[in-house]
Amino acid sequence: MSDKLSLAAPDIQTLGRAALDFIARYYDSLADRRVIHSTTSAALRSLLTEPLPQSGQAFESLLLTIHIIAEFSRHNGHPRFFGYVSSPGTPVAALGSMIESAMNINVTCWRSAASATELEHVTINWLKEMLGYPAQAAGLLVSGGSMANFAALAAARSAKAGVNVVRDGVAAVGRPMCLYVSEEGHFSISKAAGMLGIGEANVRAVPTNSRMEIDLDHLDLLVREDLSAGCLPFCVVANAGSAATGAFDPIGDLADFAHRHKLWLHVDAAYGGFACLAPESRGLFERIGEADSVALDPHKWLYLPVGCGCVLYRDPAAAQAAFRESAEYTRIIGLEDEETFAFWDYGPELSRPFRALNLWLVLKYIGAQQLGEAIAHNIACARYLESLVTAAADFELLCPANLSIVCFRHRPPDFTGDLNALNERILANIQRAGSSYVSNARIGRAFALRACILNYRTSMHDMEILLKDVRDACRSAILERPPRE
Ligand SMILES: Cc1ncc(COP(=O)(O)O)c(C=O)c1O
Repeated sequence: MSDKLSLAAPDIQTLGRAALDFIARYYDSLADRRVIHSTTSAALRSLLTEPLPQSGQAFESLLLTIHIIAEFSRHNGHPRFFGYVSSPGTPVAALGSMIESAMNINVTCWRSAASATELEHVTINWLKEMLGYPAQAAGLLVSGGSMANFAALAAARSAKAGVNVVRDGVAAVGRPMCLYVSEEGHFSISKAAGMLGIGEANVRAVPTNSRMEIDLDHLDLLVREDLSAGCLPFCVVANAGSAATGAFDPIGDLADFAHRHKLWLHVDAAYGGFACLAPESRGLFERIGEADSVALDPHKWLYLPVGCGCVLYRDPAAAQAAFRESAEYTRIIGLEDEETFAFWDYGPELSRPFRALNLWLVLKYIGAQQLGEAIAHNIACARYLESLVTAAADFELLCPANLSIVCFRHRPPDFTGDLNALNERILANIQRAGSSYVSNARIGRAFALRACILNYRTSMHDMEILLKDVRDACRSAILERPPRE
């Protein structure tokens, strides 16, 4: 029986060529595919379920199943996939992922992964440089924006609790700790508050203005109310590109406010952070260096494949206060200063994949300039879509386009029924038809079709096709009976 655990070099090359062939053809076919293929859970289970394989099969036969998986996936790299906040990935990182798992470096600390640790420092320094974040700040790569928000809020909790919450728990604070974020904030903020014992009920959702930015007067009011009620306001979160509408809170004003009230300022830049590479949005980041922490997601607008977020802490000691642990088996013996560095002192994970490799590859191979141009082009596409929507009598813009997100709805002139119900059916029909894909948002009471342009393959012409697809989806929505409520 051949040993399939440890393959000889020629066998690896044979398998590799087959895998690379799949990858190359996949990328080549993306634009011609439907964004999504309608299916059912039962249909997929009947294709994929089988008994536990006791003996191995030929790699080529497994690729047949991988073709089925590809066929029934939503293609996030398709030029007209505009749902959620989703990176298209990039070929160079697909190759990087292959190399990463071949080396299988566990990036826990310098002792276990000297060169990977140094490369992660290099890439983190590049991210700080892009943003204009202080050089002495600490940072590390995490699984995504949710984990980056969680880690930042853990540091905020330790820094502002006034007691040792890591040792004694949040009950030792003796009063509720309150956190402020606009109604546009991502749910990972509330989720983190729940996991950290702060409590989701102590997250204050601050109303927004017509540009969906945090209302500073209302924020002030809420903080004062909490102070008079005996609570401990400890943190305010700025959205640097909200998930629903791309709203960008005024970071400088929030920095002043946080300073006045001794709050930790966290910036959730998971979606919008890399807009700093586009000249027209650079100014939005002017005072981000004053934030105590920042969440970024290279796996969104830096086009990396899923699995790479980043948290930055202005004061490294604040992160250590939240995360530093020492077990006998992780104690570092016989190394000096910089070589004792451990990522587990700055975040929740111990074992960590070599996320920096793909980040380094994308930045080195493509370069910040071309990435910035692609991001600027995404923003230009959103502006073009906004202008098409505004100019058309049968479309309505529901809020101004922010960064690369446009929220709008279809409003056929002769239609007198429920616009929310109509647009919900349009959404379902667009997603089923597969030429374009949008997701949804709620703007006030209106159901919005939401397009987030986050793909270097997307063109201005795709914006025109999207509106045509919406009109087509509307025609079939009007023809079909409304679904039962
Ligand atoms: C503004 C914002 N914050 C946080 C997140 C969560 O990021 P992730 O999905 O990487 O956990 C998202 C995801 O879309 C987001 O848009």
